[in-house]
Amino acid sequence: MLFKNKTVWITGASSGIGRELAVQFAQQGANVILSSRSQEKLEAIKAELAPGNHKVVPLDMAQPERLMQDIPAVLDAVGRVDILVNNAGISQRSLFLENEFKVYRQLMEVNYFGLVAMTKAVLPRMIETGGGSVVAISSVAGKVGSKFRTGYSGSKYAVVGFMDCLRAEVTQHGIHCLTICPGSVKTAIGHNSLNGQGEAQNKPEASIENGMDPADAARQMLKAIAARKDEVVIGKGISSWAPTIKRFFPQLFNMMTAKTSYR
Ligand SMILES: NC(=O)c1ccc[n+]([C@@H]2O[C@H](COP(=O)([O-])OP(=O)(O)OC[C@H]3O[C@@H](n4cnc5c(N)ncnc54)[C@H](OP(=O)(O)O)[C@@H]3O)[C@@H](O)[C@H]2O)c1
Repeated sequence: MLFKNKTVWITGASSGIGRELAVQFAQQGANVILSSRSQEKLEAIKAELAPGNHKVVPLDMAQPERLMQDIPAVLDAVGRVDILVNNAGISQRSLFLENEFKVYRQLMEVNYFGLVAMTKAVLPRMIETGGGSVVAISSVAGKVGSKFRTGYSGSKYAVVGFMDCLRAEVTQHGIHCLTICPGSVKTAIGHNSLNGQGEAQNKPEASIENGMDPADAARQMLKAIAARKDEVVIGKGISSWAPTIKRFFPQLFNMMTAKTSYR
């Protein structure tokens, strides 16, 4: 068992990728701390996990200051966290010219400031207790831009930059920093994506419905954590190739994204 007796804290564990990560970490012998806003959903998932010393810790990533206040008590209770998976996130499908400004704040609070606050609260204890892994789920949208995602991509690019700088600072303390950039994965993210008024759009999307199976995505994520990778892109089809195409043919890529209406 790859992660036997490790304590793994997963945000956004009530759905999609986070839920699958919880299932697979527990199968690999880990004790999982499951977090998101939905206590009931988390309790139901916890009940289905392979046996372990699992815990539910409800939290709202959109309240980073509160999060930093509350986390020390959780750390005192669990003793140590070996792996922090900053996975909670929301997306967006709306055009810049039609967006209210508050949509940008909503996306940055959850996807960026929430992640920074979690890391700020957990990392010192991780260092004190001998090291561990900080994992951030960014996105292919954190490596390339496309229509309908000015706020989402901005927040996910910010995560990539944050993790690159953090890695440079804390490798010397025995901390492994991994940035995961998934392409489309079949989860509720399309339904939960914000419209220009900051409300969930509540409709399915072909790219997400045809996306990777979340169990396959989680399997690849666990492998990347075990191999102590710095950054991985995970996905199928064009979404997994997009960062490479952009890197080697930036003008062509930018021309293509301006012409297509990829959702
Ligand atoms: N699916 C994809 O195609 C894809 C691609 C690239 C990157 N990603 C990234 O993968 C991560 C997981 O997304 P998913 O696809 O699994 O989507 P999902 O099924 O919609 O799950 C999102 C998770 O984030 C949690 N969350 C949202 N807002 C929160 C808040 N304010 N406080 C605490 N938790 C919050 C949700 O829990 P509650 O609602 O219970 O709070 C839920 O557990 C996200 O960071 C996303 O950007 C997904």
